[in-house]
Amino acid sequence: MKVAVIGAAGGIGQALALLLKNGLPAGSDLALYDIAPVTPGVAADLSHIPTPVSIKGYGGVDPTPALEGADVVLISAGVARKPGMDRSDLFNVNAGIIKSLAEKIAVVCPKACVGIITNPVNTTVAIAADVLKKAGVYDKRRLFGITTLDIIRSETFVAELKGKKPSDIQVPVIGGHSGVTILPLLSQVEGVEFSEEEIKALTPRIQNAGTEVVEAKAGGGSATLSMGQAAYRFGLSLVRALQGEQGIVECAYVEGDGKHARFFAQPVLLGKEGVEEVMDYGKLSTFEQEALNNMLDTLTSDITLGEEFAAK
Ligand code: NAD
Ligand code: LMR
Repeated sequence: MKVAVIGAAGGIGQALALLLKNGLPAGSDLALYDIAPVTPGVAADLSHIPTPVSIKGYGGVDPTPALEGADVVLISAGVARKPGMDRSDLFNVNAGIIKSLAEKIAVVCPKACVGIITNPVNTTVAIAADVLKKAGVYDKRRLFGITTLDIIRSETFVAELKGKKPSDIQVPVIGGHSGVTILPLLSQVEGVEFSEEEIKALTPRIQNAGTEVVEAKAGGGSATLSMGQAAYRFGLSLVRALQGEQGIVECAYVEGDGKHARFFAQPVLLGKEGVEEVMDYGKLSTFEQEALNNMLDTLTSDITLGEEFAAK
């Protein structure tokens, strides 16, 4: 398997590359690309770690050598939030970056599975989908918005609150990846009961966890290390499934049956072609159902914004 990390010199990209260099299956190839000229140096640095994963880094304007032959492309290229900004404030810069990268992917590695980290994810995934579609290579099984950070945050916060081991906690998170569109299904956490007050406090904590980090970093960016870990978890799950391991499920923002919106985050069974099955997310509590109903206008307009941008 060849995994390409695009935006690899950035905060997420470097953390993710480090984890992939250490954790990809033996014999994998890791390619790093970023417009920043330091990128070959990042790869040289990581290449001294003694693992059976080969690594190359490319800087400059052309991602082609990193994308050539890639099975998985993980994209964190773009700008990050500063205090006072919303994820949608990143649209003006990041939409163009995702559009041009998707145009390259369509030509160089049209069969790759593409995971998008770049915000606003609700919108950038729609842009990538429609660019790939325009090029005649879109396969909805192979495009993912990476929402795993919402999952690992939920697992951490629930474990902290209930005095459990984080590895024993699983929390599906559905919808999208911004504000009210992030909906943790706390009613489905096995072996844990929540009071109404706990749900009313924990749900917004998870929804606003990105802002918590942005404010704590005080102008120095947004979540990078936890996101590196989240993207590593998702990327490795994808690689293992592409290699034939069965029964791997992750929540991700994908194009499903369109019941709520064209793109929706929910549990997905991964397989040799990417998405094998978009799974039912199960029964919702009254609180969750109301939250789902209330998010749909926001999610739909985030998606429309991306579709309109890609159509230009
Ligand atoms: P960063 O500024 O540290 O890194 C971004 C990197 O992208 C930089 O190295 C930059 O040179 C590179 N870049 C810019 N344009 C490029 C292009 N056209 N091709 C290749 N590389 C390019 O930012 P970061 O903290 O790593 O965050 C990156 C993105 O990820 C942001 O949009 C941020 O909002 C998003 N993010 C998403 C999640 C999520 O849960 N999905 C979580 C955290 C951050
Ligand atoms: C996050 O959830 O941490 C990311 O989407 C980055 C951000 O801007 O909040």
